[in-house]
Amino acid sequence: MLTRRAFGDDFIWGAATSAAQSEGAWNEDGRGPSIWDTFAAQSKNLSGNNGPAKGSDFYHQYPNDIRLLGLLGFKNFRFSISWSRILPNGHGRINQKGLSFYHRLIDLCLLKGITPWCTLYHWDLPQALQDKGGWANRDIINYFEDYVHLVTNEFGDKVKHWMVLNEPTAFTGVGYFLGLHAPGKRGLSQFLPAMHHAALCQPIGEMVIRSNVPNSYVGTTYSCTGIHPHSQSVQDVQAAERMDAMLNRLFVEPAMGLGYPVKSLPVLRKVYDYFGPNDEKILPCNFDFIGLQPYTREVVSHRFIIPYLQARLIPANERSVQHTAMNWEVYPPVMREMVEKFAAYSNVKDIIITENGAAFPDQVIDGRIDDQQRQSYFVNHLKELQNCVLDGLPVKGYFVWSLTDNFEWAESYRPRFGLIYVDYEDQTRIVKDSGYWFQRFLSKTN
Ligand code: BGC
Repeated sequence: MLTRRAFGDDFIWGAATSAAQSEGAWNEDGRGPSIWDTFAAQSKNLSGNNGPAKGSDFYHQYPNDIRLLGLLGFKNFRFSISWSRILPNGHGRINQKGLSFYHRLIDLCLLKGITPWCTLYHWDLPQALQDKGGWANRDIINYFEDYVHLVTNEFGDKVKHWMVLNEPTAFTGVGYFLGLHAPGKRGLSQFLPAMHHAALCQPIGEMVIRSNVPNSYVGTTYSCTGIHPHSQSVQDVQAAERMDAMLNRLFVEPAMGLGYPVKSLPVLRKVYDYFGPNDEKILPCNFDFIGLQPYTREVVSHRFIIPYLQARLIPANERSVQHTAMNWEVYPPVMREMVEKFAAYSNVKDIIITENGAAFPDQVIDGRIDDQQRQSYFVNHLKELQNCVLDGLPVKGYFVWSLTDNFEWAESYRPRFGLIYVDYEDQTRIVKDSGYWFQRFLSKTN
């Protein structure tokens, strides 16, 4: 049985959002454009109202959203800072109005007894920095360091919980290798330097936070996916190993002092071309926690024609398994598989599930959203997590993705992940039944 008590009194319960997906107000109060504004304007699917320009209007609706977060019983809120809202050109001139927005947001959280958890980078690089090469240009490290100094000096007396990067594998892989996310770059000569510079920003971000924020609790977040070979043939098993190196090990291993997983994925060797003389020594981190974001698993088969990986992910609908609106298999054991996998690194201290959730088509009937499928998704994933806690694995918290429906990147607004439904015509909110389920669950003491 799932009970709140089994998680213990100190377990952290929260909900998460990100700036580019929820704030909107893309050109208000002096904000500069981010790579997602530019990418959307150039993409057929994301132009006009399908891009991030309005989001879920969090910039204006945040008092109501934070009120609802509290109403549902969450005591922690994970959000990200829009770099180009506070530094419109990515560096140099500071936009005071951007800083005051985050002060207002943080102050409101604190007033309501909600702990703010701040992600420094959730994919929305200032366009001005992309114009200089973005993550593929080594100068990004200095720009990032300056940005982190600014943010942590500004908010460090009020915010103690920090995450350096959100899912670096995703933003470098999908944005700089596959070109499906902003900034739409492709190929190894973009991806490998972007990957290496992002990996260097993990310890550098950590160091800056620690130097400016006394008593900080510092981590970073990783995408993670259960990887299962399609068959036990040597070829499928090896394909799964390469995929695992790419999707699960790429950033955590350098952070843990193990270097890049080049043995499992030899193409990564070319990254050494981008190494500076001390990089090997800089890469390891000493995080207080790592954030894991398990949503699903992938079944992998060998496929020679796929460049570098020679591996193919077999889509969930091809496998006839239950799946979400993202075509992601619903597979609750991923929770335990991922917690065990990452807890096995000897330098991992605490683990926090910094995102978990599901998109399903929601229907508003008589002002209500009866989202049974999402509710079962949460119940079944939380049961797995509860067993991890009971078995003594170091999981300390869980954040729902997401507080409200919002802009789902290349998929625009179609997939709805929120506990709170957003009507994008007028930005009104309706708490979904899954939100009320959390309210009941979190209010129980047994
Ligand atoms: C990202 C979120 C995203 C969610 C669902 C994570 O990869 O951090 O920004 O909305 O998954 O796709």
